Amino acid sequence: MAEPKANERMEKIVSLCKRRGFVFQSSEIYGGINGFWDYGPLGAELKRNVKDYWWRSMTQKREDVVGLEATIIMHPKIWQASGHTSTFSDPMVDCLLTKKRFRADQIDPQSGDIHSYTGAHDTVAGKSSSETYSVLIPTGKHPEYARKVARQFYAARGVPAPELLGETIETVKETVRYNPDNGSLLTEPRPFNLMFKTFVGPVESEDNVAYLRPETAQAIFAQFKNVLDVARQKLPFGICQIGKAFRNEINPRNFTFRSREFEQMELEFFIKPDDAAAKSSLTGGPGTEPNWGWEQWHKYWVEQRVQWYESIGLSRDVLDFHWQKKEELAHYAKATVDILYKFPFGTQELEGIAARGNYDLTQHQTFSGKSMEYFDEETKTRFVPHVIEPSAGVDRLVLALICNAYTEEEITDEKGVKETRVVMKLHPRVAPVKVGIFPLLKNKPELVKKAQEVRDLLRAEMPVFYDDAGAIGRRYRRQDEAGTPFGVTIDFDTLGEKPELKDTVTLRDRDTMQQSRIAIGDLLPFLLSKIR
Ligand code: GAP
Repeated sequence: MAEPKANERMEKIVSLCKRRGFVFQSSEIYGGINGFWDYGPLGAELKRNVKDYWWRSMTQKREDVVGLEATIIMHPKIWQASGHTSTFSDPMVDCLLTKKRFRADQIDPQSGDIHSYTGAHDTVAGKSSSETYSVLIPTGKHPEYARKVARQFYAARGVPAPELLGETIETVKETVRYNPDNGSLLTEPRPFNLMFKTFVGPVESEDNVAYLRPETAQAIFAQFKNVLDVARQKLPFGICQIGKAFRNEINPRNFTFRSREFEQMELEFFIKPDDAAAKSSLTGGPGTEPNWGWEQWHKYWVEQRVQWYESIGLSRDVLDFHWQKKEELAHYAKATVDILYKFPFGTQELEGIAARGNYDLTQHQTFSGKSMEYFDEETKTRFVPHVIEPSAGVDRLVLALICNAYTEEEITDEKGVKETRVVMKLHPRVAPVKVGIFPLLKNKPELVKKAQEVRDLLRAEMPVFYDDAGAIGRRYRRQDEAGTPFGVTIDFDTLGEKPELKDTVTLRDRDTMQQSRIAIGDLLPFLLSKIR
């Protein structure tokens, strides 16, 4: 079937998310709140599956990574040490006409004619304004539009019937100084700190200012020594955490992609500095070497993470990679690679994997006065460990999984009628509901009883959905849209109408729509092998 255009595709995805209960606008009954999203029944399961699977893969299945669950609000000095208080900002500009704010680096370059006015005055009211103002319009468009915008600008500054003076026109290419919505001049860019501020305790004073964490990583650095003391780990080893992070984004956009409240899954994998590593005999996880330096560890984690994405249905051909150039790197970073997903609205970052040297621990050592050093028994040296940081966003990944799963297929039903099947081809590991249970008819007590037995058997191990309403084809279709990978139908053969099929059910595969017969006794092991 012809692929819908990117915008149209995204609109359909957003609409399905609401209709089927994956994602709702936060506070929708009050008109919503920009940059905040809620997950409905299916979305909540999907998100939980993603986090649980990450946690299992990153720590429970590994010897060399332990977990942490820290608070969202921490001592404000943490953010001084990390540099967030002084530098965690985006360049912001305001539209001089509407006051709407933009991130300066997200404005698409535009070309056209700039109409500038050196001043305006209102002889009737006696008020005047000498501010220079300009408007960008496409070359050839009637200048009256620019004049109309300029009059609005001066009128808003208290000049009710402004006269425009000294109009000049200049043709420009690729400027980012004008509001793409209305052509109005923007302010000069200025830094806007993205951290949400609050006060701890009843007194709203500067002394009590605290921040909602903009990343989960810093708690791991701050607790490094405590974890080291209790976890019986030697370098190389990691500490991971999943949790909420908050950024007062200037321009939240692309559905949940850039939100103001989101969740991160972060690992800080601590390694020896290269000279100590060269003399080492201890390995990290399987397939690693004892004397690896930071470059090998960095590559190792990139590959681990890509394999992880593949294991939940994001194949390498829907991913992309951006190795940051020297000039893009943070001053302390040795290398950063972004893993990108090809969203309908563009290829964008899912996760960053950074080699951060020992910057963070050194900063906390300096600001707290507490040693962050590690004593290496093998080389009898002390040093501040270095770190490799794979940092992923849960909500972005959930959005990528939803976009990747959304499929429209043209099919022909039993009566020969063509229809469009919308199917969410979510990997069984992350699918919100694993299996739909359908008695063929709801008014046959023997079928219903058997179907409920199958439901109870499976429900102990996985989320199931029991549906006895409507034609079986419609029930399948509803589960296709919910992303349920398997459907089990209990029919008269299950009850022994054909004796050789007694206690077997029809198992339908969501993606191929193929049906096969399986013994009830084999169902659980089969399904478990697909969803774990
Ligand atoms: N500790 C490193 C760090 O926080 P980051 O690149 O700023 O690095 C890591 O964030 C990940 O968090 C991103 O790759 C993205 O998946 C997610 N993320 C960041 N800002 C986000 C936002 N405003 N909305 C949703 N996810 C976001």
